[in-house]
Amino acid sequence: MNRMLFCGLAALVLAGCSAREAAAPAAPALESFATARQVMLGLTIPATDVVWGVGNETPADDAAWERVAANALMVAESGNLLLTGSRNPQQADWTEMTHEMIKYARAAAEAAQKHDVDGVTEAGDELYNACDSCHNKYMPAKAAELAGAAAE
Ligand code: HEC
Repeated sequence: MNRMLFCGLAALVLAGCSAREAAAPAAPALESFATARQVMLGLTIPATDVVWGVGNETPADDAAWERVAANALMVAESGNLLLTGSRNPQQADWTEMTHEMIKYARAAAEAAQKHDVDGVTEAGDELYNACDSCHNKYMPAKAAELAGAAAE
């Protein structure tokens, strides 16, 4: 075998990537710094609070609506963080529930772009269910509480 070709193939195998990925410029290596809990505390919770706040106080102007839409998208981006690195426990339901969260966060952002209070509120309710479903299983204190209640 041609030596260059062999080295190329060996590099592909070592990198564990497909030929298609290898053709694209190398993606920058990602390093994770926060646990799932820290993603919640630092990004998901404060961003969701802004989305849920719309039901209590209608955003006053375009800038306020833009801020709601941006925060809804930060909830969605926090989902991307939950799917990466050691934060993802590699369970299918974790991925599914995170995709639900992303879906409704994006719906809330779309509604905010249209200045649609009801749309944001409805998406916000669905979002709540997505958060809750993951906590029922993956938030240790809550999962233990539910297991206790089920055993009673
Ligand atoms: C895919 C799983 C998952 C999803 C989806 C998720 N969370 Fe969490 N959340 C966690 C985990 C894991 C923890 C940390 C549990 C622990 O270690 O105590 C947590 C913790 C929390 C806490 C408790 C923080 C504290 O003070 O102890 C809150 C509040 C929270 N999440 C809010 C949200 C909100 C709001 C959403 C939806 C917009 C959401 N979470 C979606 C997994 C998830």
